[in-house]
Amino acid sequence: MKHTEALNQMRLGVCYYPEQWPEELWDDDFRRMKELGISVVRVAEFAWSVFEPSEGQFDFSLFDRALELAHKHGIKVIIGTPTATPPAWLTHQYPEVLNATYEGVLLRHGLRRHYNYNSVKYHELSAIITRKLAEQYKQHPAVIGWQIDNEFNCEIGEFYSQADHDAFREWCKRKYGTLDNLNEAWGTRFWSQTYSQWEQVFLSRPNAGGNQPNPHLALDEKRFVSDSTIAYAKIQADILREVVPHHWITTNGLFGHLDSHRLQDDLLDFFSYDSYPQFSTIHYDARDERPLADRKWSQTLGAVRSISPQFCIMEQQAGPGGWVNKMDMPSPKPGQMRLWTYQSIAHGANMVLYFRWRTATSGQEIYWHGLNDYHNGPNRRLREAGEIGAELAKVGERIAPTSFAADIALVRDYDNEWDGEYDVWHGPFSKASGTAWYKALTRRHIPSDTLCMRPGITTLAQLQRYKVLVYPHPAIMRDETAELLTEYVRGGGIVIFGCRTGYKDERGHCYMRPFPGAAAELTGISVEEFTVVKGTRTPVSIQWAGAEGSEGALTGAESFNDILRPEAPSVEVVAAFASDYYAGKPAVTRNRVGAGEAWYFGAVFDEAAAGQLLDRLGIVSPAARWLALPEEVELAIRENEQGPLHFLLNYSEQPAILTLHEPKTDLLTGSKLSGTVALDGFGVMILI
Ligand code: GLA
Repeated sequence: MKHTEALNQMRLGVCYYPEQWPEELWDDDFRRMKELGISVVRVAEFAWSVFEPSEGQFDFSLFDRALELAHKHGIKVIIGTPTATPPAWLTHQYPEVLNATYEGVLLRHGLRRHYNYNSVKYHELSAIITRKLAEQYKQHPAVIGWQIDNEFNCEIGEFYSQADHDAFREWCKRKYGTLDNLNEAWGTRFWSQTYSQWEQVFLSRPNAGGNQPNPHLALDEKRFVSDSTIAYAKIQADILREVVPHHWITTNGLFGHLDSHRLQDDLLDFFSYDSYPQFSTIHYDARDERPLADRKWSQTLGAVRSISPQFCIMEQQAGPGGWVNKMDMPSPKPGQMRLWTYQSIAHGANMVLYFRWRTATSGQEIYWHGLNDYHNGPNRRLREAGEIGAELAKVGERIAPTSFAADIALVRDYDNEWDGEYDVWHGPFSKASGTAWYKALTRRHIPSDTLCMRPGITTLAQLQRYKVLVYPHPAIMRDETAELLTEYVRGGGIVIFGCRTGYKDERGHCYMRPFPGAAAELTGISVEEFTVVKGTRTPVSIQWAGAEGSEGALTGAESFNDILRPEAPSVEVVAAFASDYYAGKPAVTRNRVGAGEAWYFGAVFDEAAAGQLLDRLGIVSPAARWLALPEEVELAIRENEQGPLHFLLNYSEQPAILTLHEPKTDLLTGSKLSGTVALDGFGVMILI
């Protein structure tokens, strides 16, 4: 039974590290938090050496005193289990708990996340500290929940210690039973890789190509890391469920090589994410002529929502970010912190904790700024946090019971992501197409979700929440997934695939069938020929026939071309390649199946192509009838039986001009609005 009631109300909080500050500051810290509207702190996730200064010697006095004070001020507490930072005594005494590089070099004490998930010793010591903590605070009136560890697979998502190699071998035995099965799955006849004894099986190791493992092993390796992470987290979750069944459990972060959906299903009450939108401007928009600023974060928040529809932001950016040696992010401008807080809320966060209360004065993160500066006096960030606290005290109750609403979902899955890290013939395409689609949608103010396709778990009903599914390049497609999608289409759904769909099975072997393999029947086409578009190939374009009432258009056909051949009479050719030796051949097709449609786009999507498809499908913003917005403003909708809340988030520093064809009220200010309205630079409105 999940403790879903934890998110029934809107909470504002902050990450707090009492162990890093003189005790005289604590009382004032909690008092000022309360004044800002902060009602919850997360503590202790890196404090192992405080709790257990040497093996078996426990000392909870510091946190006892800190939690007592928090309680005195009416502030609730989330305790992080401190296993992301094993103490020096531990790793010195038991070096077998350390992670190792691909080359086998041990990763030593001094940063964090230097442990491996498979060391029996680490399991034992993690279980002890978790149980001790849970016993210590199980009756504490301030404690409401637990964060397991901190950001699984952050810093590093690869594990090559002796314990990992050994555990992988056992994992393979459980998965394949016999070496014959393993040899078959990994295609080891190729290049004489056949294994004849289990002792010969390892995680990938340096080879003549440097780091070029067998691709099928490489895919299994990622599944193994994910399983290891979840098995490790389960040790802690089981203890917490036993000792503190009245508290909720979460963990934070969204990192590689981890099936976070299974982690959530198996172990957590809800999921938490750490939101630093400034990474977005750095990685997403740098080369975009019409930048969308922090919108990459909106896309990522969609991925978080696919794990848990309402969630917690355990760390929300509260100032400039930076480590001593890397990352140097600008200071958020006035209003930006508030904007980002509402961005999280608009996308489904019902609890938001700032990272962190005060900027650390020593250590790696002296430039990762908290609400308070080193000087601890008043500043702009604190004032902004106070404004948000006051607003949420007014409107939180109306927002908390609502959920994000979208009619279109971008589909992803772990198999393809993990296989695609190694396979350059499809891997890079998913990200490019996902970004292109998200940008096309958000520019048109069409809210979208992420849907994670989980073979054997995802149901038809889950797909049917959406009118349209965009599944850009599912190279790996099991027949059962194709069947599920076919049912969805028959029932009236629209599915859109890009090039490289359906040609691999779950082991990563290529099907001996015409492309698009598993999706051939659903799409009603075959791929006559295909080519990478690079080197001597001049970029090709696609000529679209005019949609009803619109001109024809020319769009790019980037990176890869699938030249299509209709195989079923129900297939209509929507667009053709415009150049090269396959000029005039079908590039985009639509197959009508039952009440729905299956589209195939024979390239990697760009924004223009996604726009063409949206036009042809007649998909517009759900607010198009009454609201005109510039593209700098994001529209996100949360709704319940009381009606929709339209979040308008202006990511531009300049005021945005909106036109309302119907009168609305801004929930935040109570103002009645209609006609032409200005939304401040970095401003937020919630229209009802
Ligand atoms: C992550 C971690 C925090 C902190 C911040 C800033 O989100 O969880 O402990 O390190 O990044 O670097």
